[in-house]
Amino acid sequence: MSKDASYWNKFYADDAVDIHYPSQFAAFVRSEINRDSTIIEFGCGNARDAAFFAKQGCQVVAVDSSSEVIANNQTNNVFGDRLTYLCFDPCTERSWEHIFSREEKVIVYTRFFIHALTNAQIEVFLGNLSKSINTQSEVFFEFRTSKDQDRAKEFVGHYRNYIDLEWLHSVLAEHNFSVDYQAEGVGFAKYGNDDAYVCRMKFGLNPDQK
Ligand SMILES: C[S@@+](CC[C@H](N)C(=O)[O-])C[C@H]1O[C@@H](n2cnc3c(N)ncnc32)[C@H](O)[C@@H]1O
Repeated sequence: MSKDASYWNKFYADDAVDIHYPSQFAAFVRSEINRDSTIIEFGCGNARDAAFFAKQGCQVVAVDSSSEVIANNQTNNVFGDRLTYLCFDPCTERSWEHIFSREEKVIVYTRFFIHALTNAQIEVFLGNLSKSINTQSEVFFEFRTSKDQDRAKEFVGHYRNYIDLEWLHSVLAEHNFSVDYQAEGVGFAKYGNDDAYVCRMKFGLNPDQK
């Protein structure tokens, strides 16, 4: 199991993912936001959700550290300036100013991204996130939790860091985030035999402790 970009480059080069329809989570998030929102997606993969949000009328920046998938996405982009792809690692690049300004209200979206990171990477990512967004911005995460560990999977070989919710809450609090909504269970992200035990969260910066 590997968490390197080289693993994901090979995975996408092999064209293993033939999922070009939006996730259940993307449809849920769309119901929570305005049509003209600016969305920043981290770990966009083959852009199934980024393309959906762009089709809905949102302005989207989709980030992934796999150069292979970003190049494929750029080749297939039919949304022009409404959908921009960037290849970079938000866990190592401290400044996100080239993606969006802190003055702007943004929707930060990640699906099945944080469980592809180590705890150390998640801590850096959340630290960078807290420095980059303002108090009007909203963050949506969906990820596999520790209760998913022994459940059936459709893709073998992916690095998966099954998230301990207590630990995640402590890191969120450390970075001044407060959670507005949380739901967990199965049935949210079903794909073939893989009915992942996931957690969905909506959170933002706590306005009282800027
Ligand atoms: C499980 S896939 C999820 C893809 C997509 N969000 C979806 O739900 O279908 C995880 C994605 O995160 C990307 N990724 C992993 N580590 C990353 C990092 N440090 N920085 C940016 N992207 C990363 C991988 O390249 C991969 O595309």
